[in-house]
Amino acid sequence: MKAAFIEQTGPPENILYGDLPTPTPTGAEVLVRVAAVAVNPVDTYIRAGTIAMDLPRPFVVGCDLAGTVEAVGPEATQFAPGDRVWGSNQGLLGRQGTFAQYACVDQQWLYPTPEGVSDHDAAAAALVAITAHLGLFRNANLKLGETLFVHGGSGGVGSCVVQMTKAIGARAMTTAGSPEKVQACKKLGADAVVDYKTDDVDAAIRRFAPEGVNVWWETLREPDLERIVGHLAPGGRVIIMAGRDARSSLPIGPFYVKDCSIHGFAMFSAPAPQQRKCAAEINRWLAKGKLRPRIDRVMPLSETAAAHRLQEDNTLRHAGTLAGKIVLEP
Ligand SMILES: NC(=O)c1ccc[n+]([C@@H]2O[C@H](COP(=O)([O-])OP(=O)(O)OC[C@H]3O[C@@H](n4cnc5c(N)ncnc54)[C@H](OP(=O)(O)O)[C@@H]3O)[C@@H](O)[C@H]2O)c1
Repeated sequence: MKAAFIEQTGPPENILYGDLPTPTPTGAEVLVRVAAVAVNPVDTYIRAGTIAMDLPRPFVVGCDLAGTVEAVGPEATQFAPGDRVWGSNQGLLGRQGTFAQYACVDQQWLYPTPEGVSDHDAAAAALVAITAHLGLFRNANLKLGETLFVHGGSGGVGSCVVQMTKAIGARAMTTAGSPEKVQACKKLGADAVVDYKTDDVDAAIRRFAPEGVNVWWETLREPDLERIVGHLAPGGRVIIMAGRDARSSLPIGPFYVKDCSIHGFAMFSAPAPQQRKCAAEINRWLAKGKLRPRIDRVMPLSETAAAHRLQEDNTLRHAGTLAGKIVLEP
């Protein structure tokens, strides 16, 4: 099979595109004929070696996938050949990745793709939608009628956070980095959107939520807790999920006297049953069109190195040249 893989961690140029043996499903594994995969920032950290993980050699890059079941292992009971599936959380913690024509995935990390939902959309939603769901409902316990602020409604995670906030009847404010991206966030249903490059974001937040926001979801890799705590309503919750090297000082007094809390999490640490619960609701929203993944572009799998460079330029160097997910087709 064709695959995008590395022999050694390093820059995007380390990604090779070539032939690897098609894996055979054992135990509860399912062999998926991959129709679409999507790039996440974490793929680039793992490929670069900046997140140290045990990697199989050669290591097929990538976490997300969508496709059709080709064969199942002797203990796999949940899927049969011909079923359409999507999944995430591969290429992590010693597991092989997904950027190949075929991928063997333990059934616990796969979910049925609803009728009418494309493989592109299922792959583009995978990691970012599960992340948004975990943070909003497991950690922040967002409720109907509450207000939420998230940076980057134009991005993978932010666009899911905005749509899920609206799906449960809460109010969402977000930012974007160009007039076109502001319009795109409005189409996702955001109640307020500001261009962080030209507008006064803090003044706009105060207008949006004069009593403070109930949930602040931080997607930036340099969180400013002084600023965040200043915008929280009593009982406010902060989600922190990016910026491994970031350090920020917490204004202790203003934080605890408002009964606030901070929740940090990494999606890949969530056990399979928790991720499955998220996937079930994500499937309902995908099927109803309440969750529409933002796809910036579709590329052939052979261009994985270029896709990693593009993602990295945006994640690490704020290039602003992406507006959603990069989907690749084997
Ligand atoms: N902890 C976890 O489990 C977990 C899971 C998923 C992702 N993450 C992390 O979360 C971060 C976001 O991931 P993603 O997949 O959503 O990335 P993404 O699709 O590349 O989106 C990044 C977003 O950040 C916005 N942005 C960049 N610089 C900004 C600034 N100075 N002010 C305001 N907004 C800014 C961009 O807006 P414009 O394009 O409009 O400029 C874009 O919408 C990454 O660091 C990733 O590693 C963590």
